[in-house]
Amino acid sequence: MATRRADITRLTAADLAGASLVTASALLDMLTAEEIERVVAACAGRPTLFTLSVVGRVELTPPHPLDDEVAKAFNDHQRRTVAGRTLLGPDAPEACVAAFARHGVAATVRPSPWRLGPEQAALAAEWFAGWLDAAREQRPELAGPAEAYGRRRLAQARAGQLGVLVDHRDLLAGCP
Ligand SMILES: C[S@@+](CC[C@H](N)C(=O)[O-])C[C@H]1O[C@@H](n2cnc3c(N)ncnc32)[C@H](O)[C@@H]1O
Repeated sequence: MATRRADITRLTAADLAGASLVTASALLDMLTAEEIERVVAACAGRPTLFTLSVVGRVELTPPHPLDDEVAKAFNDHQRRTVAGRTLLGPDAPEACVAAFARHGVAATVRPSPWRLGPEQAALAAEWFAGWLDAAREQRPELAGPAEAYGRRRLAQARAGQLGVLVDHRDLLAGCP
């Protein structure tokens, strides 16, 4: 086995010669439409498993009236343009399936929701803080209204009283 560190968007079919499986996790949302096309072009023809791709749906329990607005701002943040690259964010799994189809490769998509409960209180708090930060960065006008919301939600998360469901998809392509 050999390890090589490289930009996955520069992957070619030749790089994958002899590979029996191509796999990546929590990656697709960080790519642009063009980059997904390139990655899929390299992978088409080999069994490929892309796990844990976000689809933009988050469910917090108990619910709060600001949840939806924060979720929308977070999703917009995921779709932002960085240095001329417009990221696909939650649209990536669908774009990936369409890209495989253009290569005549069928893809199967299945839900793989991420659930954090009282046993993962520290992780839920960390996830929530990152989620809110991204939403605030995208919509600075949220900063005021989200202040008390953030404090309350973080306290709930740390106390193991915030149920978190972050919806994801796993995508398997090129398997008979
Ligand atoms: C959300 S993290 C997921 C990490 C890990 N795969 C997991 O599931 O826990 C996304 C990872 O993709 C890597 N990544 C993003 N764009 C990349 C690119 N163009 N080429 C290679 N890796 C990339 C990032 O460095 C980061 O480690």
